Amino acid sequence: MKGVILAGGSGTRLHPLTRITNKHLLPIYDRPMVTYAIEALVQAGIQDLMLVTGGTHAGEFLRLLGNGHEWGIDRLSYAYQERAGGIAEALGLAERFAGGDPICVMLADNVVERTLRPAVENFRRQGRGARILLAPEEDPEHLRHLGVPELDGGGRVVRIVEKPERPPSQFAVTGIYFYDAAVFEVIPRLEPSGRGELEITDVNNWYVEQGTMEYDVLEGFWGDAGESIDAYYAVNDFVRRSGANKP
Ligand code: DAU
Repeated sequence: MKGVILAGGSGTRLHPLTRITNKHLLPIYDRPMVTYAIEALVQAGIQDLMLVTGGTHAGEFLRLLGNGHEWGIDRLSYAYQERAGGIAEALGLAERFAGGDPICVMLADNVVERTLRPAVENFRRQGRGARILLAPEEDPEHLRHLGVPELDGGGRVVRIVEKPERPPSQFAVTGIYFYDAAVFEVIPRLEPSGRGELEITDVNNWYVEQGTMEYDVLEGFWGDAGESIDAYYAVNDFVRRSGANKP
């Protein structure tokens, strides 16, 4: 399995901090944000990685990560996204890198407390389709800023709603996704959403319709450090207190 880390986008919710750097280079406790996603994948046994980024600070990733060896990466590839056209658009740039292999995709502003290894093993067993990781979240106000699944009670996802006015469950769709090679046939068929982006939720709903979407519920803390300045500090506080990517 290969890994794709998405670190593009414009980071407007963290302005003015992100006028002078890329969001994923901001510190979380004692190191840049993107290194937590890298650590999560490497510790789960995924060491062939592509980093997709964009904007005016893309060169800084090379300075930070180099060939990746210092971070436990076996082979590190880079792609440049010309404009913030959405998560699915950014993922589309990884098609040739993936080369038909299954992939684990992680948004570089996501931080987890516990290892992703069980989910990686579950997707290996699953063999085809897609898999999402859910995090329990009771606060409807928080859920309105995320993707939220509707579940049928029998362990199936019925659909995913992006930024729902009325959240259909008390789970957030985290920014950690597993896909088979079909994902690169789906992306070119997507239409831009109301915000002008190719949405990862549309990709996920395609798999739901095919009946090949599975999920796991994450154990421990999950945070999206790019959601707001308060979320950024909440993730910082958690990591400083309790660490991240623990076995
Ligand atoms: O963090 C989980 C959430 O991430 C999910 O619950 C949502 O379903 C999913 O759409 C996404 O929502 P966000 O509103 O947080 O997405 P955002 O636009 O902030 O992008 C998240 C990351 O994706 C960002 O940190 C870098 C990457 N990205 C984003 C865009 C728009 C790119 O690489 N390129 C892009 O063009």
